[in-house]
Amino acid sequence: MGKLRNSFVANFLAVTSLTAAGKDLAEWTSAGWYVQNDDVMGGRSNSNLKLSGSGAEFEGSINMNGGGFASFRRNFGPWGERDLAQYSGLWVETDVVTEQPLFHAPFAVHIQLGDPSRYDHGAAFAIPSGPAGSTYSVFLPFGWFTKQLRWSCRGCTLDTGRINDLSVYALYQEGPFKFKIRQIRAVRDSEVPAFGQVPALVLSDAKAWMLVKATVERGSTLWNKGNPELCGAMYSMTAKTLTTASNISSSVQEISRVAMASAERYPVNLGGDAAWIYRKAFDHILAAYEGVSFPSDDRYPAVAHGDWAATAMGSDQVPQLSTTSLDRDMEQQLALNSAGQKSLKGLGFIFVMLVVGNAQSCWS
Ligand SMILES: *[C@@H]1O[C@H](CO)[C@@H](O)[C@H](O)[C@H]1NC(C)=O
Repeated sequence: MGKLRNSFVANFLAVTSLTAAGKDLAEWTSAGWYVQNDDVMGGRSNSNLKLSGSGAEFEGSINMNGGGFASFRRNFGPWGERDLAQYSGLWVETDVVTEQPLFHAPFAVHIQLGDPSRYDHGAAFAIPSGPAGSTYSVFLPFGWFTKQLRWSCRGCTLDTGRINDLSVYALYQEGPFKFKIRQIRAVRDSEVPAFGQVPALVLSDAKAWMLVKATVERGSTLWNKGNPELCGAMYSMTAKTLTTASNISSSVQEISRVAMASAERYPVNLGGDAAWIYRKAFDHILAAYEGVSFPSDDRYPAVAHGDWAATAMGSDQVPQLSTTSLDRDMEQQLALNSAGQKSLKGLGFIFVMLVVGNAQSCWS
């Protein structure tokens, strides 16, 4: 576990891509990448992939009506299997999300490796939003590639000696999306680039409330769709964003720090424990801004229990916000976010989702 903890490193670099060591798995312009959306199973998401020497720009729109994903992938073919047994995991470098971020909510991405078995093995990470020209990177140890989207098999592990497929998914985050992956490399532990910070955003308490609210809306959808890893990755990134942001109440930063320190023991790709810790912190933040009492511990599993959340929020008063107008802004933004893919009937669906989201669907 110690090794896993230390390996979850994230990088925030201001100018250009790092030329990392290790093995390039992306080979953007020569690899035969192709797009696969949920229309293969009757869905209505769409996407467009632009490849260049500097990476893959993937944009499109996720429609939850009948599906909910868009992906791009390459297949190494039966004679092109990659032997990655000598490496420790994948290092992925992205641009931060600059377009259409929903109140700065991070965008969660599922990256998946295949071997000759019929099972796929994926890991989750989340891309923060921030200023254009900034990059972010993450290291995902092979031991974290545990998520099986299509068929699941108990106890199967990825055969890192025979990798034959690599894919990147946008899943269950309704509306338009756009992100850029710069590098996907297999690296050894010793080759992982030094870690840094997520972009420091200038927020306000109202923006912090919206960020947390949007994160819980989207994260709980991911959770309820059977993707606790993506939910956890998104929650974890929002907590990091709150700790590095300026112009928000200090108790909101304090509870985010405390939650991160506690959740650090539970990698988001190995279970839902971290997501619960973050969820309790977020519920406390929302309650404080909304001027209602804190939720009680019986709504959370034991891993999140304790008075840490109330203690952290008690360290400083937060201003009480008029959430009626913020809620309205958020509904409008969610509706705008889905514009272009939604009929009026579809818009109705979004508002229903909001109401359900308010009933704390993360664990139902
Ligand atoms: C800082 O927060 C205050 C109060 O929440 C807000 O009015 C102000 O616009 C924020 N400043 C910036 C630069 O966003």
